[in-house]
Amino acid sequence: MAKMTDEEYLRIARFLKGRYGIDMSRKKEIISGRLENYIRANGWNTYTEYMNAVEKDNTGSLEKKLVNLLSTNHTYFMREPEHFTYLRQVVLPWIRKKEERTRDVRIWCGASSTGEEPYTIAMVIADYFGLEHGAWDTQVLATDVSTDVLRRAMDGVYSSEQVEVLPDNWKRRFFRKIISEDAYRVTDELKNEVMYRKFNLMDDFPFRKKLHAVFLRNVMIYFDEKTKKELIQKVYDAMEPGGYLFIGQTESINKEYCPFEHVRPSVYRKKEGK
Ligand SMILES: C[S@@+](CC[C@H](N)C(=O)[O-])C[C@H]1O[C@@H](n2cnc3c(N)ncnc32)[C@H](O)[C@@H]1O
Repeated sequence: MAKMTDEEYLRIARFLKGRYGIDMSRKKEIISGRLENYIRANGWNTYTEYMNAVEKDNTGSLEKKLVNLLSTNHTYFMREPEHFTYLRQVVLPWIRKKEERTRDVRIWCGASSTGEEPYTIAMVIADYFGLEHGAWDTQVLATDVSTDVLRRAMDGVYSSEQVEVLPDNWKRRFFRKIISEDAYRVTDELKNEVMYRKFNLMDDFPFRKKLHAVFLRNVMIYFDEKTKKELIQKVYDAMEPGGYLFIGQTESINKEYCPFEHVRPSVYRKKEGK
């Protein structure tokens, strides 16, 4: 198969940026590395032939595969644990007080990847509400643009090594050992606490009710400044006054356009009463 030319690389990078906000500039090696075997195995001779097929395919399935291959999905349980401590100690008590009457908790995880993040959030919530949990509607909405990772999240199977970081009582309560495999499966109780949907962060937001907390961690690193700015504004508009936004600890939001109050590193808040 012919090597990827600069022109072909730019075409793929432009396609990803235009439709998904994913910025692959200076990532030619990564793109060709992730696509080469797939393209060869499926009989295309050049990246141009392949991209022609993607753009012609009305079913969208080739495009879906492209996104699955090129998105970076790295994640793990309890990633950036300070956020979960803050969720438990500050955010959930605030929601509990605010929604005393409706008992409706609305938390969205907007780049949920293979599920470790939304399941961690759901375990923190279950732990926090304790015996009262059943009386509250606490289901977490988890979305991602990649259907591959969503499928894995819904399947909920993780290796022993992946679940090792979790407290023993959570492991006992929310996981079942898979006999004959060095792996665990999430219980139905925990699965029911997370609703998975496919969603592209570039699209208009479909929320009917305002959100109390949003986790948008380690995804904006792939977006350019303009995309980030628009996304942050959409998130702000979709939130309850007083609501909290968590971003990745290596990320930041430019002060020039950030509508949120910065409450601590990587945690933002929409002003109460707004
Ligand atoms: C590195 S993972 C981060 C996972 C998790 N939030 C964490 O912090 O561990 C980035 C995720 O963002 C998703 N993603 C990238 N672009 C997206 C877009 N335009 N809309 C929705 N999800 C996107 C990828 O599919 C991937 O699963």
